Amino acid sequence: MRLKSTTFVSVLAVTALAACNAVGPLDTAESGAVLFRQNCVICHGVSGAGDGPEADALPVAPANLRALAAANDGVFPAEAVMATIYGYRGKDYAGLMPEFGPVLDSPSVIWIASDGREIPTPSALVALTGYLETIQDP
Ligand code: HEC
Repeated sequence: MRLKSTTFVSVLAVTALAACNAVGPLDTAESGAVLFRQNCVICHGVSGAGDGPEADALPVAPANLRALAAANDGVFPAEAVMATIYGYRGKDYAGLMPEFGPVLDSPSVIWIASDGREIPTPSALVALTGYLETIQDP
């Protein structure tokens, strides 16, 4: 039997929606910690304080990732952090922080932004950002 093309399209749409809502195994603090060790420790250090093995070799010091909330009136700036990690700082950014969008490519989950918008966001980026929130100094 031949599927009518409209049926086929709606099956695809449903599958895509399901993929969006699936909270993958990466969406946990533990996998965020693993992603951090794999990708960030070399510059930002094991504790995130900015003292990784490569830090001294860089002309600009890696940021202290434990102080992100303190620098923002005590509120962890999740969206700005995600944008920075992903590489959304714009074409004029000439800094040293690599773009991790391609590395963190993963099934999307719905991120509820601080203004209430629902933004499909790679689950690995959400997990990593969630981990960073847990290491904020009071
Ligand atoms: C090659 C070294 C390097 C690696 C690897 C690296 N960073 Fe960075 N990062 C930096 C430097 C240097 C800065 C500060 C200067 C700048 O923004 O260019 C920075 C800045 C940041 C900032 C902005 C902090 C602020 O005050 O706004 C965040 C967030 C961040 N890094 C997170 C991460 C995460 C998470 C990872 C791992 C996925 C990572 N970085 C990997 C070098 C690195």
